[in-house]
Amino acid sequence: MITASPIATVPGALPLLGHLVPLARDPLAFLRSLPAQGDLVRVCVGPFQAVMVCDPALTRQVLLDDRTFDRGGVFYERLREVGGDSLGSCPHSLHRRQRRLLQPAFHPTRLARYAQTMTDQIVAMTDAWRDDQVLDVLAEMLALTGRVTTMTLFSDALPAPVLRQAIDDIKAIAQGTFQRMLMPPPLDRLPIPSNRRFHEASASLHRTVRSLMAERRASGTDHGDLLSALLTARDPDPAETRPTLSDDEIADHLVAFFFAGAETTADAVAWALHLLAQHPDIEDRLHAEVDAVLQGAPAAHEHLPRLKLTSRCITETLRLWPPGWLLTRTVTVDTHLGGHLLPAGTTLLYSAYLIQHRPDLYPDPERFDPDRWDSDQRPAPPRDAFIVFGGGPRKCIGDQFGMIESTLALATIASRWKLRPVPGPPVRPDTHNIVLQPRGLRMRAVSRTTQQPS
Ligand code: HEM
Repeated sequence: MITASPIATVPGALPLLGHLVPLARDPLAFLRSLPAQGDLVRVCVGPFQAVMVCDPALTRQVLLDDRTFDRGGVFYERLREVGGDSLGSCPHSLHRRQRRLLQPAFHPTRLARYAQTMTDQIVAMTDAWRDDQVLDVLAEMLALTGRVTTMTLFSDALPAPVLRQAIDDIKAIAQGTFQRMLMPPPLDRLPIPSNRRFHEASASLHRTVRSLMAERRASGTDHGDLLSALLTARDPDPAETRPTLSDDEIADHLVAFFFAGAETTADAVAWALHLLAQHPDIEDRLHAEVDAVLQGAPAAHEHLPRLKLTSRCITETLRLWPPGWLLTRTVTVDTHLGGHLLPAGTTLLYSAYLIQHRPDLYPDPERFDPDRWDSDQRPAPPRDAFIVFGGGPRKCIGDQFGMIESTLALATIASRWKLRPVPGPPVRPDTHNIVLQPRGLRMRAVSRTTQQPS
């Protein structure tokens, strides 16, 4: 019989508020402080309690057993308001069938084809920049990844104003979802501006994907992409008698993919550009690599194996600034984890940010050091220490897609442009958001070629 020890509550909880004050003031510092308190610690957010997993092996155990530790808890409950029971937010009972249906859209042969679209779009973006232009870097990257997502997964280029609106909607949803995570449910329906913005953005994004669905149906062609897979879904299991996906379900999937595909990768490239500008020695080495590998051509799929430092810069960026920084699970049956009893219904929190900033796993964890990932120079970080894409059966379906897109984008940008910081307030992570974005990242584009790229 296992004897279960109690889970300690993190010190400093205030009556009624719990840990809301440190969480609101500096949530990342709060997360970094937690491993010193134990492998599992209790965190209180107002009246809610949750258990934070601070140990990498226990986090892995949670990720591997998605039946016991199911998608749920406050993050996914709020995400379901936008994406319903789509792949990312559905419970275990619905997951395998959906994943089987959607996985072919991420097959390596497909990814190689998508890479051509990525290259074309990255070239179009970098060609449009002018020497000395000040860029809103995150907006540029979101426009890029939004275009790439629609053109690859939905084989469709949205008209520019529609894409702009969709990106604004995603931003409002990301912020609104975070606010709603901290908001007691009865406040949901209050007609306050933040609730209104959230609902309007969700409705607007759903309208956009519905128009994509209607156009595809009207055209009657099967493009062999994710959208066609959803519209023509037939369960491969002959014993499965449930109907194929309803229009509402398809719309939820498209919204979720649009969101997951655009936000995360855009953040990764934007942060990487910021970090490189702060580390000119690494930037110089990156320039040497892309100049040698690309020889003036835009980065394409066949270059990827030789873009080693570029890819390590992305990995290290994702270690420092993981887009999905705080995620939740719900415990479905009474269970034990790390010698502690977790009753059914417990909300678990897990955080790539917390794990990837543990000094015992990453010496000098705040330092941007892409050479950590160079196995010729250093021993690889432990297996459980890098969880930026989650893990287990619900690991990110777009991990390779995201890595390819961000590596190609960084390589082409670095081969053509130097992005320099502009004076202003320091760039900070936006911690009032479900994705960890660089807030206020404006940079000046300086051409690396004597002539403007054609
Ligand atoms: C750098 C880029 C990306 C990062 C850091 C990232 C991160 C993640 C993480 C952490 C999860 C697991 C969440 C959890 O455990 O609760 C996840 C799941 C998921 N991601 Fe990504 N993602 C990225 C790119 C993408 C792209 C490009 C797409 C689609 C085109 C995508 C679609 C999804 C989907 C659909 C899921 C749910 C998978 C499932 O439950 O089976 N992601 N992602």
